[in-house]
Amino acid sequence: MACRICHSVLVTGSNRGIGLEIVRQLVDSPSGPVKIFASCRDPDGPRTEELQELAQKHQDVITVVQLVKNFSLDICSSASIKEALKLVENEVQEKGLNLIINNAGVNIPGSLADTEKSMMVDVYTSNVVGPMMVAKDFRALLCKAAAQFSHQTSMSCKRSAIINVSTLLSSITICPENFSLAPMYPYRVSKAALNMLTRCLAEDLKKDGILVMALHPGWVQTEMGGSEAPLTAAESVKGMLEVIANLTEKETGTLLDWKGNSIPW
Ligand SMILES: NC(=O)c1ccc[n+]([C@@H]2O[C@H](COP(=O)([O-])OP(=O)(O)OC[C@H]3O[C@@H](n4cnc5c(N)ncnc54)[C@H](OP(=O)(O)O)[C@@H]3O)[C@@H](O)[C@H]2O)c1
Repeated sequence: MACRICHSVLVTGSNRGIGLEIVRQLVDSPSGPVKIFASCRDPDGPRTEELQELAQKHQDVITVVQLVKNFSLDICSSASIKEALKLVENEVQEKGLNLIINNAGVNIPGSLADTEKSMMVDVYTSNVVGPMMVAKDFRALLCKAAAQFSHQTSMSCKRSAIINVSTLLSSITICPENFSLAPMYPYRVSKAALNMLTRCLAEDLKKDGILVMALHPGWVQTEMGGSEAPLTAAESVKGMLEVIANLTEKETGTLLDWKGNSIPW
């Protein structure tokens, strides 16, 4: 049997799009995790039916977890991260949690003229504050997983890692080339901040043996990417999971695309 990608993983925004496809491919893979915690905002809502069906089929592997990350829309969301943490902790126990894929994200397209303050704040809150609070609250559980491998110094997703799903549009270096194609202020600014969060966490958590990196999925056919996108979610996620499975300490603090190519900050 192939070597497992890791023992346990938490995937945020897993009820549709790229997140749902990540859960689908992980559960179908012979080298997939033993435990997949699939988080979404509304486990009983109509947009979660597909995930619930998948979870029903693989009850021993998938646990659907409620995780509301938009603090400005829901003042209880901090409590929701803590509730999710309790549930995950209870299942993984002393093994800890190996991997978090911070996939949930939002794009409210806005040019300079039509971006309102509330759009900037809401997108920043979902795309940056959410992943930061998840990292903060789940850190101890990631450390627990990393400590199981204390006989080795190397970093990997098998040991303990945080993957922040970023975008090519976050790159300050590439901005002059693609700005006119997507003049999306709230999204670009928030994802550039997510990159800095990635860099800070990578430095901070190095001593704990936790790898942290940012991953661009490509332009993908989802509700966010639209039907014009060249990549299917299946193609993108296949590449992303291959990149994730092969990460080493060399890649901590980097921004890569779904094929493993480096993207300049
Ligand atoms: N598609 C692309 O071409 C593309 C390109 C580059 C990067 N990305 C990134 O890839 C990730 C996934 O995108 P996608 O294309 O799969 O988008 P999508 O189809 O629109 O799905 C977004 C997911 O994020 C969840 N979400 C959004 N805001 C949230 C919040 N405040 N709290 C909790 N959950 C929230 C959504 O939950 P609900 O169903 O409850 O809304 C949904 O599960 C995002 O981080 C995105 O920025 C996508």
